[in-house]
Amino acid sequence: MDTRHLRGLMILLLLIVVLSVLSIQQISFPPMENLRHYLPDFPGKITLSVQSDGRLGNQMFEFASLVGIGLSNNISVVIPPGFSNLKRVFNMTECQFPMMSKDEVGRYYKLNIPNSMGYDARVKDIRQHINHSKTLFKGFLQSYKYFHEHEDFIRRCYQFTRSYKDNTNKIMRTQIPKNRITVGIHVRRGDYLLKKLQLRGLSVAKVSYFYKAMDLMLKKYPNAFFIVASNDMQWAKANLGSRANMMSPFTQPGDDLALLANCQHSIISSGTFSWWAGWLANGTTIYYEDYPMKGSSLSEGLNRSEYYYKDWIPLGD
Ligand SMILES: *[C@@H]1O[C@H](CO)[C@@H](O)[C@H](O)[C@H]1NC(C)=O
Ligand SMILES: *[C@@H]1O[C@H](CO)[C@@H](O)[C@H](O)[C@H]1NC(C)=O
Ligand SMILES: *[C@@H]1O[C@H](CO)[C@@H](O)[C@H](O)[C@H]1NC(C)=O
Ligand SMILES: *[C@@H]1O[C@H](CO)[C@@H](O)[C@H](O)[C@H]1NC(C)=O
Ligand SMILES: *[C@@H]1O[C@H](CO)[C@@H](O)[C@H](O)[C@H]1NC(C)=O
Repeated sequence: MDTRHLRGLMILLLLIVVLSVLSIQQISFPPMENLRHYLPDFPGKITLSVQSDGRLGNQMFEFASLVGIGLSNNISVVIPPGFSNLKRVFNMTECQFPMMSKDEVGRYYKLNIPNSMGYDARVKDIRQHINHSKTLFKGFLQSYKYFHEHEDFIRRCYQFTRSYKDNTNKIMRTQIPKNRITVGIHVRRGDYLLKKLQLRGLSVAKVSYFYKAMDLMLKKYPNAFFIVASNDMQWAKANLGSRANMMSPFTQPGDDLALLANCQHSIISSGTFSWWAGWLANGTTIYYEDYPMKGSSLSEGLNRSEYYYKDWIPLGD
């Protein structure tokens, strides 16, 4: 064999190796750069994605709903760029999906999902409502109904990464008496106090709501141990410090969420972060019934029975 043939053979071998490596990676969910091979734009094969908007709580809805819709319809999903919060906080080794690169976002048809805090029944049979092999949901997809058939799977996705687990476990071990029933209280304030957000309906609960909710929890669990986390710890300490048993020592939202998730029961307030704290704790949940504010533009997109679980307990100020 002369060198030319040998070189040809080497190139062929190299190609075979590269191709087989690529196909192995396709099976075990490829990194971004292989996506062009993984997601050919041919009729019949559909791929769904979702916008990545907002911070942790919003992203948790977007991801869980996308995955739920994909699994229920037997359609593959890809994760858009921008879910960095999720991947930092949660150990998603058990639920990896292909990633979309930034320049691919433009190739997706955007399907508007207008009811932000409710369920769009079109997703029950999404094939009937899309004509594009690549479709991206544009909306917040905030309803447990998008993923309730796959709740166990989503719970596996939302396992905290080691550092968050360790931080919370240390607090749980050293600062909480063993015989007490833990109740996490999430106090959402911060930007929600801004006039322009309040006008849209992003209300904050008054101290009377938290007091009433704590009384109700004490009726159910007389030895309740209340743990408060908030993005306004100054207000929380001043207003709830004397009745709560512990204030979160953390400053990172991910640590607060892990702490609240580790509690047995929840008192939540406004916003998606609060909602997920209740969902993760998965015990008795009391929620603030005046969020979003009645008559606001946000409340127009709310279907209460699709946003809040039936067995979550509404309570006002
Ligand atoms: C799901 O789709 C795959 C191909 O994309 C097909 O092989 C499989 O049979 C489908 N499963 C169901 C339950 O429809
Ligand atoms: C998809 O395309 C067909 C043919 O053009 C059209 O009749 C149908 O209404 C479209 N469906 C949707 C959901 O856009
Ligand atoms: C994620 O979970 C796996 C086990 O499922 C574990 O081996 C790994 O260390 C975890 N990683 C982090 C960052 O928590
Ligand atoms: C919580 O856990 C129970 C099982 O104890 C389950 O039936 C329920 O659907 C879970 N989810 C929520 C959001 O409460
Ligand atoms: C709210 O959701 C329920 C349950 O999905 C549904 O029956 C009802 O029609 C919805 N209400 C509105 C106003 O859309």
